[in-house]
Amino acid sequence: MSVKQYIQDNKEKFLNELLDLLRIPSVSADPKFKDDVFAAAEFVRASLEKAGADNVELCQTAGYPIVYGEKIINPELPTVLVYGHYDVQPADPYELWDSPPFEPVIKKTERHPEGAIFARGSADDKGQFYMHVKAFEAMMANEDLPCNIKFMIEGEEEVGSEHLDIFVKENKEKLKADVVLVSDTHMISLENPSVTVGLRGLAYMQVEVTGPNRDLHSGTYGGAVGNPINILCKMIASLQDENNHITIPGFYDKVEDYSADYRKALNDAPFDLEAYKKELDIKDVHGEKGYTTIERVGIRPTLDVNGIWGGYTGEGAKTVLPSKAYAKISMRLVPNQDHKEIAKLFEAHFKAIAPDSVKVKVTPHHGGQAAVVSTDTPGYRAADLAIQEAFGKKAIPTREGGSIPICSLFQQELGLDPILLGFGLDTDALHSPNEHYGVKNYYMGIETIALFFKHFKNEASK
Ligand code: BES
Ligand code: MN
Ligand code: MN
Repeated sequence: MSVKQYIQDNKEKFLNELLDLLRIPSVSADPKFKDDVFAAAEFVRASLEKAGADNVELCQTAGYPIVYGEKIINPELPTVLVYGHYDVQPADPYELWDSPPFEPVIKKTERHPEGAIFARGSADDKGQFYMHVKAFEAMMANEDLPCNIKFMIEGEEEVGSEHLDIFVKENKEKLKADVVLVSDTHMISLENPSVTVGLRGLAYMQVEVTGPNRDLHSGTYGGAVGNPINILCKMIASLQDENNHITIPGFYDKVEDYSADYRKALNDAPFDLEAYKKELDIKDVHGEKGYTTIERVGIRPTLDVNGIWGGYTGEGAKTVLPSKAYAKISMRLVPNQDHKEIAKLFEAHFKAIAPDSVKVKVTPHHGGQAAVVSTDTPGYRAADLAIQEAFGKKAIPTREGGSIPICSLFQQELGLDPILLGFGLDTDALHSPNEHYGVKNYYMGIETIALFFKHFKNEASK
C-alpha cells in the first residue's frame, strides 16, 4: 500500500478526528477557557502517540504546554521539525456566526465547492497542524517515513508565544533539526499553489488619552476643554499623510526598497483585484501610494487601528465630554524594522503630537519580527517538488501580510529558515466569524506534506 492510498482509505477518519479537535474551545486569550486549552494539548499529545511518535510529552511552561513528540528512525537521516499551534482566537462576536464556532459543520462555498469545515481554528491552525499528524500517521503506517521528525505544537501563538522564546533557547539540542516545517499560512488557491517566503512583523500598542479629570457636561464645557476622543482621532489621522505614508519619524529608516525585478516577480503572481474587491464588497482598495495591493500587504509596513473606545456608546444620546479615550493600534512591519524600536518611535511620536490639553499614556502589547526565507534551500526545493507532484504545478513564492513571530526565532536561535507550507485561503475568514477550511485543502495538504518528506530526504543529501 502507498502513503497516498492510506490517506485515501482514511479520509473519513482523518476528517472526524479533526472535527473532534475543533470541538474543544481552546481560546488562549480568555482564562475562562483554560481547561479547554489544556484539553486540546492533551488531545494533541494522544494523537501523536497514536500516530507512532516516541517521547511524547507536554512540556510545561509558565503558560500553556508545548506538545513535543518525535520519531528518530536513523540519526544519520535529516530531521524535520514541525511547528504549529493548538490554541485559537476568541470566537466573539458569536452572534455573527452562522453556526456555533465550536460545533463544526461542513458546507459548500464558492471558493470551496467540495465543502469547507466551519469552526473557530479550522484554518488557524488546528486544521493545518493536524495535517502533519495525519501525514505522519500515514507514513508510519506504511513504514515509509523518509526522515526523522520532531513535533513542537504550542498553545500560545494567538497571544504572542510568550513562553516559547525561553523554551526554544533552552532546548536547542532537543529541537535540533535540518528544517522547520510550518502550515499556518495561506496559498493563493488550489489552482495556484504557493509557498510563503515572507511574513510581516508586528508592533501592537494601546494608547490612553486623558483630558479633564472627570466626564463633563458637553454643553457647559464643550468647545472650551479638549475632548480626548476628538483629539485622539486627530492624532490617529495624522499618523498617515495624504499618500497613506506613515508619518512617525524614523519609521521607514530600515525599510528595504526592492528592485524593479523583484517587484515585477511579486506582481506576476495571479491576483484578481476585481474579485478581491467584490469579495469584500468595497468599491476601491486603499493603501500607500505607489504600491500595488500585493506589495502593500507583502513588502510594505502599515498602521491600523484595531479598536477605539471611550465616552457614551449606549442607547440614545447622552451629552458628555468624556475624560478618557482609548485605541489599540497595530503596525505590521517588514524585515529589518525591529518591533521594539518601532514601539519606541511610536511612543515618542505619539506623545510629541499630543496637545497640552491632554495627557497620553502608551503601552506596548506583544510584538514580533518579520521574517523572509530563502527559496534557495533544500527545504524550499522540497516544498516546491512536493507541490509539483501533488498539484502538477510549480509553487509560486509569495509574501504574506500576517505574522508568526516564532519564525524569526527559528532563524536566530536554530539557524533554520522555516518552510511556510500553508493550505488556507485569504478568504477563509481567519480571526473572524465563520472561519472555515476547505476539506480538499485538508486532504491535499496531508498528501503534499507526506511528499515533502520524501523530497526533503533527497534534497538535503545533495
Ligand atoms: N496563522 C496566523 C498568521 C498568518 C495568517 C500568517 C495568515 C499568514 C497568513 C497566526 O496565527 C496569527 O494570527 N498571528 C498573529 C500574530 C500573533 C502575534 C498574535 C497575527 O498575524 O495577527
Ligand atoms: Mn496561526
Ligand atoms: Mn491566528
